[in-house]
Amino acid sequence: MAADALDSSAAHPALGDSAFLRACRREAVPHTPVWYMRQAGRSLPEYLRIREGVPMLEACARPELIVEITLQPVRRYGVDAAIFFSDIMVPLRAIGVDLDIKPGVGPVIADPIRDAAGLDVLRELTPDDVSYVTEAVRGLVGELGGTPLIGFAGAPFTLASYLIEGGPSKNHDLTKALMYGRPDLWAALMERLTEITIAFLRVQVAAGASAVQLFDSWVGALAPEDYRASILPYSRRIFAALEPLGVPRIHFGVGTGELLGLMGEAGADVVGVDWRVPLDEAARRVGPGKALQGNLDPAVLYAPWETVERRARDVLARGRAADGHVFNLGHGVQPSTDPDVLKRLTDLVHETSAQ
Ligand code: CP3
Repeated sequence: MAADALDSSAAHPALGDSAFLRACRREAVPHTPVWYMRQAGRSLPEYLRIREGVPMLEACARPELIVEITLQPVRRYGVDAAIFFSDIMVPLRAIGVDLDIKPGVGPVIADPIRDAAGLDVLRELTPDDVSYVTEAVRGLVGELGGTPLIGFAGAPFTLASYLIEGGPSKNHDLTKALMYGRPDLWAALMERLTEITIAFLRVQVAAGASAVQLFDSWVGALAPEDYRASILPYSRRIFAALEPLGVPRIHFGVGTGELLGLMGEAGADVVGVDWRVPLDEAARRVGPGKALQGNLDPAVLYAPWETVERRARDVLARGRAADGHVFNLGHGVQPSTDPDVLKRLTDLVHETSAQ
């Protein structure tokens, strides 16, 4: 697996030297690299056109659609990295979990997991279960040339929240009830999800992804002591399993201000920060030896351009406190965002940070 990964990342001579990979490795960069979480998707008219009549999970299983949708924001914005078009629920669907992704709602699970018998559906993921992912990543790496492709997966807590609650949740009460009330069952669930996550990320790197991001989007719901006891061992195991593959590992969650130190301990190379903690303060909390990714509030993109510009310059200035900085939003692009503002922002980040 490791040899495969090295071979494919050597595919294009400019790749290893890209600003994005250099920043992740905390090396000097020609400009601050920038990409956006959810850069592909409903904010783009070309995405809405190509998705017409195709359900989300079907789109995620069709390599030609995956390739085209992943490339759309790269063409339009000139961002420094592509993110694989898929969803955190794709590996769970691939092993047979009965779920759907409902427009405007998100993932919905037919039979939520509430007891030990519910775990049976979470079998191991094999590369054959997601052959369309391998095919799409290979196709993308050819098309992208010197632009790195970021593979991704959902982290065990965030996946568990959907599996236990049955759908999106505000407070994750059932998830926490299981974590506090059934530690044995919680551990067994986390173990299985950890293995699935590792397997899904390995498939993407083996096929040529140059970096990976672990989305623990909802883990900010937990207090630090709960993160340390019930989540950190699994985050650590995931990052340790990926280390031999030699690609940068990014760790992101929302509302994680109080968890940044622990997330730094989990073993990623880059810690993603939402908009609530300024990057200079985040650098202090995460500690040395990590790059940071973030963290413009996605809602700032609705403000007049002067405000967008001022706030983006502030993110860049504070990002200099970190050992490496990848510019991004503090969470995903909202569907009603004007793509022209994102284009202008991308150019601003490149021009302002060019040395
Ligand atoms: O451009 C990219 O960032 C790559 C694609 C991507 C999607 N989902 C596509 C998608 C990525 C990285 C994800 C990850 C994901 N999925 C996360 C973690 C990131 C985060 O936002 O914190 C989570 C929590 C999910 C679960 C999920 N899937 C949600 C909450 C939703 C949105 C529901 C909605 O319709 O508002 C989805 C659906 C989804 N995933 C869409 C896209 C483009 C919208 C589906 C559509 O176009 O019909």
